[in-house]
Amino acid sequence: MDSDEIRARFVRFFGDRGHLPVGSASLVVQGDPSVLLTSAGMQQFKPFYLDPARAPSRRAVSVQKCMRTSDIEEVGDATHHTFFEMLGNFAFGAAPGGGYFKREAIAFAYEFVTLGLGLPIERVWATTWSGEAGIPADDEAVALWQEAGMPLARIRGLNRKPDGSRENFWGPTGDSGPCGPCSELHVDVLGACPEGASDDACGPGHECGRFVEIWNLVFNQFYQDADKSLRPLEHTGIDTGAGLERIAALLQGVPSAYETDLFRPIVAAAEEGLGTRYGTSAETDRCLRIVADHVRSVTFMVADGVFPSNEARGYVARRLLRRAVRYGRLLGHVGPFLGGIVDATIARFGETYPNLAERAKTIRQVVTQEEARFSETLASGLELLEGELARLAPGAALPGPAAFRLYDTYGFPLELTREVAGARGVTIDEAAFAVELAAGRARSRAAARFTKLAELDLPAIETAFEGYATLEVGGARVVGLRAGGERVLSVAADGDATADDVWVILDRTPCYAERGGQVGDCGTLSGPSGTFVVATTQAPQGTAAVIHVGRVTSGTIAEGDVVRVVVDEDARAGTMAHHTATHLLHAALRAELGEHVHQAGSLVAPDRLRFDFAHGQALTPAERQAVQARVNRAIRADLPVQVDEMPTAEALKLGAMALFDEKYGDVARVVTVPAPGALLGPEAGDGAPLSRELCGGTHARRTGVIGSFAIISEGSTGSGIRRIEAVAGAAAEAWFDQQSRLLEEVAGRLGSTADEVPGRVDAVLGDLAEARKRLEAAERRAAQGALAHVLAGAVAVGEASLVFAEVPSDVGPTFERLREASDWLRDKLRRPSAIVLASVIDGRVQVTAAVSRDLSGRVGAGRLLGEVTTVLGGRGGGRPELAQGGGGDPSRLGEALVRGLALARASLGS
Ligand code: ALA
Repeated sequence: MDSDEIRARFVRFFGDRGHLPVGSASLVVQGDPSVLLTSAGMQQFKPFYLDPARAPSRRAVSVQKCMRTSDIEEVGDATHHTFFEMLGNFAFGAAPGGGYFKREAIAFAYEFVTLGLGLPIERVWATTWSGEAGIPADDEAVALWQEAGMPLARIRGLNRKPDGSRENFWGPTGDSGPCGPCSELHVDVLGACPEGASDDACGPGHECGRFVEIWNLVFNQFYQDADKSLRPLEHTGIDTGAGLERIAALLQGVPSAYETDLFRPIVAAAEEGLGTRYGTSAETDRCLRIVADHVRSVTFMVADGVFPSNEARGYVARRLLRRAVRYGRLLGHVGPFLGGIVDATIARFGETYPNLAERAKTIRQVVTQEEARFSETLASGLELLEGELARLAPGAALPGPAAFRLYDTYGFPLELTREVAGARGVTIDEAAFAVELAAGRARSRAAARFTKLAELDLPAIETAFEGYATLEVGGARVVGLRAGGERVLSVAADGDATADDVWVILDRTPCYAERGGQVGDCGTLSGPSGTFVVATTQAPQGTAAVIHVGRVTSGTIAEGDVVRVVVDEDARAGTMAHHTATHLLHAALRAELGEHVHQAGSLVAPDRLRFDFAHGQALTPAERQAVQARVNRAIRADLPVQVDEMPTAEALKLGAMALFDEKYGDVARVVTVPAPGALLGPEAGDGAPLSRELCGGTHARRTGVIGSFAIISEGSTGSGIRRIEAVAGAAAEAWFDQQSRLLEEVAGRLGSTADEVPGRVDAVLGDLAEARKRLEAAERRAAQGALAHVLAGAVAVGEASLVFAEVPSDVGPTFERLREASDWLRDKLRRPSAIVLASVIDGRVQVTAAVSRDLSGRVGAGRLLGEVTTVLGGRGGGRPELAQGGGGDPSRLGEALVRGLALARASLGS
C-alpha cells in the first residue's frame, strides 16, 4: 500500500466518522512562542482543548508535517527521523457537543488498524497508563480495549521507559498545555521474542525489537502549567498521532522507512550525489540515511519560511544541513551534492505539499548556498588540521583544544577529525576534548541569552497596515534594513537585477503581507535619495513587523528615510478579484456538494487561485460545471462585498466560516456577500448570506468587478483532499481565449470545424489503431523470416533441439517479443527444446531462455540464463521453463552463447 493510499484511507476513515479534514499547519508554530517547530498534529488545535466552542468542528482529522530534533543523534537507524508526517484524529469536548473520549478513540483506532489497514488482528497489542502517585492507572482504557475486541493478554500497563522517563503520559508541547494519560498501539513484527522471553515477560516496551509502536492515543484530561502543576481540564479531549513512515514500512514489508516509497527516490538521489550504493555496508547506509533524512527536513523547513541562520529555528536548519554535508564527507565525497536531493524531495512531495513545488527555486538556492559556504569552512578546517598533523609524529595524540577548535569553529564532528588524523597514525586526546566541549557548552549557554535579546530588535517593530483603504501611503519611515540577512544602515543600488535580498521594514504600509493564502503585494518605495522595487511583502511568523522584500533600483535607501509607498495596482486588483472569487467558490462548493466541504488550504494570487477542500471523491463534470455556473451567477448579480469587524464569538454565532490554521484574536474581520434574493425582497438581510467568512484578506468591493470565473482543473492532493485551480477576471478572459485558440488550432489541423473535432479525433484514433495492428503483423512476419535462419542452426542432441542465438534487435526489441520468437521456434521444432535468444538494443543485451517441460528437470532455463549472463557480467533469473535477464558487455555475447550451449549439451549428457 503506497503512502498516498495510507494518508487517503486515514482521512477518509475519519471523515466518514464526522471528522473535518484539516490541512497540515506550517512547521513554523503560530501563537505559541514556547514552541519552535510543529512537533505534533495537536499543535494547531491547542486552543480548542481549552475552549471547544471555538473549534469550527468538534472532530478533526489531519496529516501534519512535524519536526523533532531531540533524538537527532539517533537518526540513521531504522526508526528515527527529524521530519515526519503524523496522522491524527482529534476531538474537542465530550460526546454531547459532537466530540468524544476514550471509548470512541479506542474503537476507531482498533478498527482502522485491523480493518482499515488490514494488519493481522493477533499481531496488534495495546499499552495503557499504569499509574503513579497522584495519577491513577487507566483501568477504563484496559476495559475499553477489551470491549473493542482485544484480549487482556495483549494489553500491557506501562508508566516508565527503560531509561526512566515517563511512558504513556503525554504532553504538553511547549511550556504549558493540555496533556493526559495515553494508550499506544504496537505491532508484533517478529511473532515471538528474539531473546526467548515468554509472552508474559515480553510485550510492548521490551527492548528486543519485536514491537513497533504505530499509534499514540492521548486522553487529554489535564492542563499542565509552566510550573509543571496539573489541573483537570474543564473539557476532555482526544489527541492521537500515528507515524506515516512507520506504518508505510510495516505495510510495505521493508525494514525501515528509507526503503518505502516515501524515501526511496530521496535515498536514490543521495546515492547518485555521493556515488555510493545503499546496502553496501551498515556504516554507508547510516550516512545515506542521515543525509536523506536531513535534506528532506530542510527542504520542508525552507518551504515554510525557515532559512539557515544562527537564530533559533534557522539554527535547526543550519545544523541539519551541516550534518548532511559532513556525513557526505565521511563517505569520502567533497563536491556539492545536496541540490539533487532537494530536487528529489520536491519531486516526491510537491504534489501533496504544493508550497515545495512553488518555492522549488528558492529552496534549492538556499540549500546550495549554505552548502557552498559550509564547504569553504570545512576546507579551511582541513587545512588547519593538516597543519597540526604535520607537527605530530605517528603515534602522537592531537591535543584537545585543537580538536575542539575544529569542532566549534569549523563544524568538524569528532569522528571526522578522528578519521583524518587516523589516516596519519595520529589519535585524539579525547579526554581533553571532552573537557573543552563542556566548557564551550557553558559559554554558549551564557551567550544564548544575549543572542536572543539582539534578535528581538526586529520583532519589536510594529508596522501599521493601511492597505484595506488605500494603495498609496506617503510619509512611511524606514525603521529597519537587512541586506543578505545582515542588519545594515543603508543599501545602494548594485546593478544586480536578479537579487531580491534586501528587506525594508516600515512603520506603516499599504502593502499586504502574505497571509491566509493571499500572496504579498508588490509595488515601489520612493525615498529622498533612491527607489526600491518591492517583489513581495512578508510578515515573519510571530512578529508584527512587515517586511518589504526586493531590491534598490536607483540611489540609496537608508534607515530613517521617509518614503512614499505605492502598491502595484493591477496585481492587487487581480488578487482582490481572485480572493473574492475564492469565497464564492467555497460557498458554491458547499451548495452543490454539501456542508461537509470546508477549506483546507488556499492560494490567492494576482493571476490565479487554488482551493483545497475536504471531499471524498472527484467532482463529476456536471458538478464542476454547476459550481462554475453558480460562481458566475453571483458575479453577474453584482453583489456588494461587505466587511465588518465584530467580536470573534459573535461572528462564529452568525455562522461565519473559520479556518483551523488561522489564529483569530478577540475581534474578527468578517467578509460577507449577501444572497442575491436578499437585495430584492422586503426582508432584505434576513436570510442567510451567500458567503460569510472570517478573513483578513483584501476583496473586490462588488462581485461584478470579478467579471468572470473559470475552473481550470480539479484533482486530488493525495490525502483525501481535493484541489481546484481557477482563474477570475482578466486571467479568466485570457484563459477562455487560449482555450478557444487551442480548439481552433486542433480543428484546423484536422481540417474540420470545432464542432466536428470529437468525431474526427475518434476516426483518426480508430485508423491509428488499425494501422498499428497491421504494422505489428508485418513486423512479426519479417521477424519470422529472420528466425528461419536461427531455426536452421538448431543443434540436435539426442531427442532434443538446442538453439543458442543472437537475433536482430527488430526481432527482439522487448522481452515479450523475444519470448514470442522462442514460442514460434518451439512450435516449428516440434521436439523437446532449449531455446536461448539474445538481442542487443542500444548497446544493452537482453536474453530469454525457454526450456520445454520435459527437459527442464535436467537443464533449467534459469541455469542456462545464469551461465550466459555471468559471462556477460549482467544479471537475470526465472523459473525452470522460462527466464530472462541481460545487461553486461555486448561484445562478449558470442562467447556467452557458446558457454551456454556447452552447459546445455553437458547437462543433456552429450
Ligand atoms: N500528540 C501525541 C503524540 O505526538 C499524539 O504522540
